[in-house]
Amino acid sequence: MKKFVKGVRFAPKNYSDEVEAKIQHYKREGYKLPSRHLLRTEEQLAGIRESARINTALLDYISENIREGMSTAEIDHMVYCFTTDHDAIPAPFLYEGFPKSVCVSINDVVCHGIPSTKEFLRSGDIVNVDVSTIYKGYFSDASRMYMIGEVSPEMQRLVQVTRECRDIGIQAAQPWARLGDVGAAIQEHAEKNGYSVVRDLCGHGVGIKFHEEPDVEHFGKRGTGMLIVPGMTFTIEPMINMGSYEVFIDEADGWTVCTDDGLPSAQWESMILITEDGNEILTQ
Ligand code: MF3
Ligand code: CO
Repeated sequence: MKKFVKGVRFAPKNYSDEVEAKIQHYKREGYKLPSRHLLRTEEQLAGIRESARINTALLDYISENIREGMSTAEIDHMVYCFTTDHDAIPAPFLYEGFPKSVCVSINDVVCHGIPSTKEFLRSGDIVNVDVSTIYKGYFSDASRMYMIGEVSPEMQRLVQVTRECRDIGIQAAQPWARLGDVGAAIQEHAEKNGYSVVRDLCGHGVGIKFHEEPDVEHFGKRGTGMLIVPGMTFTIEPMINMGSYEVFIDEADGWTVCTDDGLPSAQWESMILITEDGNEILTQ
């Protein structure tokens, strides 16, 4: 009997014979397939679901408490307290040096806004609150938009269409479809409404780590990209701009992503599990 080199791991068989047969079929056809470790085991899924439940409860809590006049640092404080009260860790905190527990992105800030005691929510603002949770080592991720006070009809429409983009993306994320199908569906809906899709940031695998393979682009061509396989968990989180899709990173903090033309941007994020007959929304 051959001896295994120490450290070689056994791939858990976490999918049915039917799924295995399809994987083999598509592999022969030359499709790009996800690595095996991206197909979650039942044990991993149990942990990921628990993490996701806390993450969703946290966003519900933010929904109830977010107010005009509040500083973005107060949102950060709520996120930190709620998460640690649930024996969990806010994943953004010190992630690649990010200094706070949550990203709060207002108006022309596309994403990765850093909470501050000097920044306040004002009537007319559209605000993205993006929360990510680590529970027993399992990661979850989601974001919602909030409209503060009286928001212009134009910005309300941006928020609404962006939410539809996220939901249309989820609909397109079917087992044995392609990641390009997801991107194309989102892009079509955004552009049909006169908006653009941010190119430089994308959705991602999530569950065992914060950001895993694959990249989930929110634009693209049908029938291209990685095959979507049961057991994958990833986010769909389109960033949709009212003007051009060009963005830049604020040099001063190295994080804040803003629209180049200064026009508003919106984002909604969910995390989904691909199942053998569709998908399951884990966070929203
Ligand atoms: N929550 C973001 C996402 O959806 C990632 C934020 S990274 C951070 O992928 F460091 F800024 F928190
Ligand atoms: Co994400």
